[in-house]
Amino acid sequence: SHKSAIDEITKEFEINTDKLKKISEHFRNEMNKGLEKHGQTVAMVPSYVTGIPTGKEVGTFLALDLGGTNLRMCQVNLEGDGKVSVRQQKYKVSDSLKNGEARHLFDYLADCVDKFLSEFNISSSAEDKLKLGFTFSFPVDQTAINKGSLIYWTKGYTAPGAVGKDVVFMLQDSLNRKVVPVEVTALVNDTVGTLLAHAYKHSNTLLGVILGTGTNGAYFEKISNIKKLKSFSSNADHMVINIEWGAFDNERKVLPLTMFDNKLDRKSNNPRKQALEKFISGMYLGEIARNVLLNLIDRTLLFDGFSSKDLNNQYYFETEYMSTIEADDTNTLEKTKRILEESLNLPSTTLTDRQIVKRVCQLVGLRAARLSAAALSAVISQCNVPESGCNIGIDGSLFLFYPSFKERIKRALKECLGPNADKIELDLAPDGSGVGAALAAMLSA
Ligand code: BG6
Ligand code: GLC
Repeated sequence: SHKSAIDEITKEFEINTDKLKKISEHFRNEMNKGLEKHGQTVAMVPSYVTGIPTGKEVGTFLALDLGGTNLRMCQVNLEGDGKVSVRQQKYKVSDSLKNGEARHLFDYLADCVDKFLSEFNISSSAEDKLKLGFTFSFPVDQTAINKGSLIYWTKGYTAPGAVGKDVVFMLQDSLNRKVVPVEVTALVNDTVGTLLAHAYKHSNTLLGVILGTGTNGAYFEKISNIKKLKSFSSNADHMVINIEWGAFDNERKVLPLTMFDNKLDRKSNNPRKQALEKFISGMYLGEIARNVLLNLIDRTLLFDGFSSKDLNNQYYFETEYMSTIEADDTNTLEKTKRILEESLNLPSTTLTDRQIVKRVCQLVGLRAARLSAAALSAVISQCNVPESGCNIGIDGSLFLFYPSFKERIKRALKECLGPNADKIELDLAPDGSGVGAALAAMLSA
């Protein structure tokens, strides 16, 4: 029956407090492994950013941001006193650029920089080149503030010819060939950028987090704890670490995989990779929900066993639909009806169908938020949270638009950390990574 099927699926998707704590504990161990040795599952990438912004930095920098929903180009003015002004332009990255020769992708990036400079009348010359911070939101093996080779692509990118290559070199090379007078002086992950930008405004910032197309976090770690960092000398105490937590538990030791997750993974373009990311991030939630819906259809427990061409297409049940469905508080679930019947072209649905769909979205969305909290609580435990509390800066479409995501994380954090969780502020840190890249370009100077 409907009810027993839904009860059974509910059980598979629920994660109780004990399990959450176990996952969090394992996460913390994995972090420490990554700090000790290179090549671990949780990469713990040193960013070579050792300065903490004071808010007094001034200057004009460019930032280019690849890896979120949009490619973004920014001109950032750091005005001191924690103030910044930003001019920006968004560009699309087509699937053929994401999956074609990397050379073409980097040439396209250089074209966007060039177009941006002309459109906004920004002058930069061969004698006095503007400095650019490159936000590259993929795992890199970073060896200096302006050097890092791609370890592997994530989030639907597969462009051949980039893995193992220095991405700053590739971008600079494309810029030079197109005679765009700009110098790439810093390479940052979006989490690192978010952390720096948030710290520029709030001095008690502990962590920068992305909950968007992908998911990941960055935090300040004591340099003495980064055992794998051998030949690095500095007077600084701390360095920003890009955790690359999307890869957590690729070994499948603790994450509660269901058959719906296994199917998603098997059909993805990076099977057995980014295990945690596939439970949490915006790129995948819709697809997990779609797999559950298809299963219920095949058992004739939903839509009377009917489907549609659209619903049968991989990734066509968008995470954005889930946001709308979860927020649908009309008595007859009219918004849900519209998505199912108009966007997905399903035959006419019953209220029971729509309630089931909403329930499935809730299960997938809640599990994602709770697992995000498990990751957060591990990083929080790794840091010393001051008595006065701390701040976490979060960016990304999921945190921005998914209903109750924040509240669900808060509740789960409290289960993991107890009353201490009340001292932790979860702040939206919008578009931080451009500002962060500018700060990195500045701090590296
Ligand atoms: C943006 C950042 O604000 O958020 C990007 O500038 C980041 O670097 C992005 O990747 C994450 O959100 P989404 O939802 O666009 O992947
Ligand atoms: C993916 C990337 C990571 C990035 C995250 C959020 O997990 O590997 O570098 O920070 O997405 O955009």
